[in-house]
Amino acid sequence: MDFLFSFDKFQKQRAMQSSPKQSGQRQLYLWLRESILAGRLLPNSRMPGSRSLAQELNIARNSVIYAYEQLTTEGLLHILGRATFVAQLTATPRVEPAAPINSSQHLAARAELYPWPTEPKGTFTAFMPGVPALAEFPLQQWRRCITRAWRQVTLQQLDYSDPAGELTLRSAIAHHLTSTRGVICTHEQIFITDGTQQSLELCAQIFSDSGANLWLENPAYGGAVHAFHKAGLTLRGIDVDAQGIAPTIADWRDAPPKLIYTTPSHQFPLGSVMSLERRMDLIQMAQQNKALIIEDDYDSEFRRNGPPLAAMQGLIANAPVIYLGTFSKTMFPALRIGFMVIPTGLTQMVDKHIQQGYLRGRSAEQLALADFIQRGQFATHLRTMRRVYALRRDALVAAINQHLAVYSDQHISEAALVKGIYVQPLSKLALGTNHYNGLILGYAQIPEGEMDTYIQILAKIIHATLSR
Ligand SMILES: Cc1ncc(COP(=O)(O)O)c(C=O)c1O
Repeated sequence: MDFLFSFDKFQKQRAMQSSPKQSGQRQLYLWLRESILAGRLLPNSRMPGSRSLAQELNIARNSVIYAYEQLTTEGLLHILGRATFVAQLTATPRVEPAAPINSSQHLAARAELYPWPTEPKGTFTAFMPGVPALAEFPLQQWRRCITRAWRQVTLQQLDYSDPAGELTLRSAIAHHLTSTRGVICTHEQIFITDGTQQSLELCAQIFSDSGANLWLENPAYGGAVHAFHKAGLTLRGIDVDAQGIAPTIADWRDAPPKLIYTTPSHQFPLGSVMSLERRMDLIQMAQQNKALIIEDDYDSEFRRNGPPLAAMQGLIANAPVIYLGTFSKTMFPALRIGFMVIPTGLTQMVDKHIQQGYLRGRSAEQLALADFIQRGQFATHLRTMRRVYALRRDALVAAINQHLAVYSDQHISEAALVKGIYVQPLSKLALGTNHYNGLILGYAQIPEGEMDTYIQILAKIIHATLSR
């Protein structure tokens, strides 16, 4: 028989697997499939009966039947009367091992990575920017909200949900924003997303064509750079001064933008707050140039001195501003819930775009979040975190003043990483010519009692780097 040799090899291969990861039926199916595709089992040859093959291979008969059925469904075997035959494949494909796929042949130009620092992931690294104090999150309360939400979930809510988001959450967010952030909106303007990253990608897709000019702050948030670069936009870094993004007359004249990305409440990474005058100027110039401002309000809830400044979006009615919010800092990053507040004139169009192109789910998490907000637990959590962060910030400043006088950035960042500390070098975030030199210290995760120890470690690294 043509395939005795094959089965012999099959047995040998099985025997060599001391603790087989795959069942006998799966192994037989894969072996037969490969043998047929490679032409080792000739077309129209008759397969042994399931009973005799099972005996020969010492496996269950059902395993043989399963493998035959599966291959018949795939068109590799066919049944005639009571017998099973190898199918005659029209063009017998050969399964040859291929060379590894070469990315240069397939990668789209816009998928080429922007030269930007990548951050270590996973384990706790002191001073990692952007991560909230996860240990302080009221997990018990959140678990109860999640349990309640799942108990109340309807069958309808197991289906794809409204791509714009759950109505209750949209309403809870609208209420929170109007009362605490001065945003002018109703729930119809709110669109739930998988976080600011998705909001940025959607803004680029919906409000600009590839090649269009986009301005962003210099230095800038890496997530925004990636999103806009991937969308094929022409990025122009606009320097930031103490009052925030500072475009010049030449910028407006030479490269008027379609979109302007800014973090006015707390510039990332420099931390400046955009002055009221600068905000009004930017809105006025955007109106004149028919540009839209993307206001990324990622952590305004934690403003250090006094209450947060009201959002740009609410400074005038119908401001040309898309306001972006996220629960990554106020709750926890893995929640992946953010939102966009769209100007009224654009909501219908955005709704159509999202309804056509996106599927949303995770209704229970959205309902749990709405519950968490409506019960006042969100507001309480924010108050607690403001106190925690104020203490940690004070401890950080005190420790820096005591242990660090001078520093310089990229070498220090590399040396610190070896000791489990990640300080992001400011110079790496510069677009074009760099005139920044600094370290970004995310202090949210470090209890104030441990601040001194970490800064002492960092101080040693800096002294060692400088004395080299
Ligand atoms: C400036 C800025 N915007 C937005 C985000 C959060 O984005 P997401 O909602 O995608 O987690 C971060 C996180 O570090 C950030 O630094």
